[in-house]
Amino acid sequence: MKIAVIGGGGREHALGWKLAQSPEVNEVIGIPGNAGWINVGPTWPGTDPLDADFGARLRQAGVDLVVIGPEAPLVAGLADTLRDEGMAVFGPGSAGARFEGSKIVSKEFMARHGIPTADFAVFSDADEARAWVRERGAPIVVKADGLAAGKGVVVASTVEEAEQAIDSMLVRRQFGDAGTRILIESCLEGEEVSILALVDGETIVPLAPSQDHKRIGDGDTGPNTGGMGAYVPTTLVDETLWQRIRTEVLERTVAGFRAENIDYRGVLYCGLMIVDGEPYVLEYNVRFGDPECQPLMVHLASDLAPLLMATADGRLSDAPEPEWHDGYTICVVLASEGYPGTVRTGVELPELPDDDPDVVIFHAGTKLDRGRIVTAGGRVLGVTARGADIETARARAYGVVERVAWPGAQYRTDIALRELRRQRGHTAT
Ligand code: AMP
Ligand code: GLY
Repeated sequence: MKIAVIGGGGREHALGWKLAQSPEVNEVIGIPGNAGWINVGPTWPGTDPLDADFGARLRQAGVDLVVIGPEAPLVAGLADTLRDEGMAVFGPGSAGARFEGSKIVSKEFMARHGIPTADFAVFSDADEARAWVRERGAPIVVKADGLAAGKGVVVASTVEEAEQAIDSMLVRRQFGDAGTRILIESCLEGEEVSILALVDGETIVPLAPSQDHKRIGDGDTGPNTGGMGAYVPTTLVDETLWQRIRTEVLERTVAGFRAENIDYRGVLYCGLMIVDGEPYVLEYNVRFGDPECQPLMVHLASDLAPLLMATADGRLSDAPEPEWHDGYTICVVLASEGYPGTVRTGVELPELPDDDPDVVIFHAGTKLDRGRIVTAGGRVLGVTARGADIETARARAYGVVERVAWPGAQYRTDIALRELRRQRGHTAT
């Protein structure tokens, strides 16, 4: 089988790395890919998947399955176009992708189907929004409706901060059309967990629960990023909570898709806040989380290719259940100087070690430049390590992180520390 993976981040490198190990797969093409694909397969740099002849090129190349990594081409309807041309595609069509493209669409869907979420109101008028915030008080959360590259959410600790967010979204149009309408919702306090599940329109195959680390700095300080590290699984989700997530979140969501005639084939990512043991949906994403995908792929012991193919074909109920390694897998992201703001690129990376079979270095913003690997974006590498326990996984990952960190590289030193503390807390009681 020949597979094309659309995208060029750490998520796509992890998917490509895992797919290339499948005995059923003879080629994995990265479109556009990044410098890490050198060990995976060919890349098609400079290719725009939204070009009119893209499907024809894939068919000419003999591609059997297209895996769409990022949200933008999904929201743009790439999965529909390729399916209409007869291709097998992993990723929802535009009807499903709207759940990431519009936070208002998602929240209204959750309300219709009884899916637990923070209560909310929708505004397009700044005066009405300000009046609501003053009435409700802080903390309160203000969100731009559309895709804003992870920057359209303000968790305001004061009414003034919320009013500033309203002003920048509705009046100054900081996010353009993505902020024509905004959501204001109550602030939930708890711990976040990422629940990803394969969905073929009907059958749900949940993947192991993971935790992301969204802020740039240790101790969850500083600005939000795309994610600075993740680990899998998390003991935050015990058996009781897992059952509730399955029934109240995953099953209700997929039943809602069916009731609304949405043929959802891909991965559904539910960003949850756990408040006193109860799950609340903060957001849906319609693709693998990044970095969550990186530790998930290293933690997955069984073959990924048949699962993705079965999802695309609507045959997930016949596919073997995923099997996971014992222990834990953690991913520490190394980002460029300046991230999440303006970054310096073109910095040469040191030689990347590959001497430890339990550590994989995924590439995100990297490119080959005259035989050297240089930085080419905000998040650059995801050092991903497996271990029998969380301490071992952390020690392995950070051992390599310290070897590859270039001058100016930023990384958090506390990835999965929360899990370690939770486990120590449990063993102490
Ligand atoms: P979202 O893109 O909707 O997931 O929001 C980005 C981040 O903002 C989340 O990962 C949370 O950390 C935070 N957040 C979003 N909604 C809420 C909420 N209702 N209460 C508290 N924090 C929130
Ligand atoms: N790691 C968060 C995301 O992919 O949206």
